[in-house]
Amino acid sequence: MSSMSPAKHLSVVAMLFLSLSMAVATFQSSVGRTMSKEDIILKTEKLTHFHFFFHVIISGPNIDDVNAALPPPTSTTPAANAFFGRVDSLDTPLTIGPNISSDRIGSMQGVVVGASPVEELAYFMEVIFVFTEGKYNGSTLVMVGRNQATMKLRELPIVGGTGIFRFARGYALTRTYSPFDNKTGTAIYEYDLYALHY
Ligand SMILES: *[C@@H]1O[C@H](CO)[C@@H](O)[C@H](O)[C@H]1NC(C)=O
Ligand SMILES: *[C@@H]1O[C@H](CO)[C@@H](O)[C@H](O)[C@H]1NC(C)=O
Ligand SMILES: *[C@@H]1O[C@H](CO)[C@@H](O)[C@H](O)[C@H]1NC(C)=O
Repeated sequence: MSSMSPAKHLSVVAMLFLSLSMAVATFQSSVGRTMSKEDIILKTEKLTHFHFFFHVIISGPNIDDVNAALPPPTSTTPAANAFFGRVDSLDTPLTIGPNISSDRIGSMQGVVVGASPVEELAYFMEVIFVFTEGKYNGSTLVMVGRNQATMKLRELPIVGGTGIFRFARGYALTRTYSPFDNKTGTAIYEYDLYALHY
């Protein structure tokens, strides 16, 4: 560069700049482009609170929790760690009351993975709340997080959504309403879910 005249140097810089902005323009038009928020209608952000129950049923005629994978049997795994490495696939009803016969507002679909080898019983959950009632019908919220079953109150993040929950974010608080019952094969969990969305 030092051997170039200042004018030549300037034009090289200008050409570099030009080709760079052309590359950016090509990239933007073919892959993504910057939009103004006004390009899609974003109204005032709202806060929605849901209160519901979900029912995990692992036996009987209405199973909604299927064990998809078990950890390999190892002699070093104490009984308390039996859930570590276990993967369950769920499609459970969401109801407005703890009774499964109460009005249903949707379902929770996803996976729960035993994520801790110690007795704290931490699970990794990645689930979608699929709403089927009223203005929420067809909209979904996505929850991804850590659920430590030995804690009374657990908090998991809401990381997104679809339909009226586009751009959603928030959190869910959950507690065990009725622990796993060996006779009915059922456990009931209570949820308070708060989501910001447009
Ligand atoms: C649940 O609701 C059904 C139908 O309303 C009722 O027969 C049943 O007793 C209720 N169960 C509980 C545990 O309250
Ligand atoms: C929810 O939407 C589906 C699909 O559009 C429709 O079939 C169903 O009747 C709706 N349910 C309610 C309760 O509006
Ligand atoms: C639960 O039920 C299974 C069989 O379905 C039985 O082997 C086990 O001992 C029971 N556990 C308790 C705590 O009752």
